[in-house]
Amino acid sequence: MAGKKILITAGPTREKIDPVRYISNRSSGKMGFSIAEAARDEGGLVSLISGPVSLKTPDEIERIDVESADEMFKEVNKVINNFDFFISTAAVADFKPEKIENQKIKKDMKAVNLSMEFIENKDILKSISKNKGDLKIIGFAAETQDIKENAKKKLNEKNLDLIIANDVSDSSIGFDSDENEVYLITEKIEKKIEKISKKKLSRSIIEFIAKYL
Ligand code: CTP
Repeated sequence: MAGKKILITAGPTREKIDPVRYISNRSSGKMGFSIAEAARDEGGLVSLISGPVSLKTPDEIERIDVESADEMFKEVNKVINNFDFFISTAAVADFKPEKIENQKIKKDMKAVNLSMEFIENKDILKSISKNKGDLKIIGFAAETQDIKENAKKKLNEKNLDLIIANDVSDSSIGFDSDENEVYLITEKIEKKIEKISKKKLSRSIIEFIAKYL
């Protein structure tokens, strides 16, 4: 990966409800930050676009912080033309509240039968892969059932070069855990990596990308 430019998204996004509340998910950002370090160690020039996480920025890695899926979409699109690889580890919220309240929602006014309308966020991966040219794109699939089948569908639908699928219903791997177990799936290859530390897994993922993509 020496000299290759690698853009990585990581962490969750936050979708505002009102000035003090938001909707988010359990992503810690650990997988994305760990892959960033592994790519850097192999000589890559790495940039991270991260949602809100409590992780230190790794040495020699440029980091841009964002909150919402819209902000992440904007920042990725601003810089993507400069990169050779896009690795999308972020757990981007699929939906956002249709309306952000300007003032805090007060319980005496709204709490009785409070309900909210949601609209879909843009799919960052899909939008980037439409005109990908020479860019190599790697996505993640967070699944709770039919892991491989669902991941293969995403590989095709999002026009990816590699998808990394994991079972997020198993709390010993995936979200906020220090370990993970995944399938690496391309059009031609399917490889299972048994449960290991996210650090070792990241090295294997970068080696796989360097070898096959
Ligand atoms: N992704 C993205 N933009 C979104 C949603 C997802 O770029 N708005 C990316 C994620 O970073 C990941 C891949 O798409 O690399 C798959 O994300 P996942 O949450 O597993 O799937 P979804 O496409 O959201 O589909 P579903 O929630 O129906 O499984």
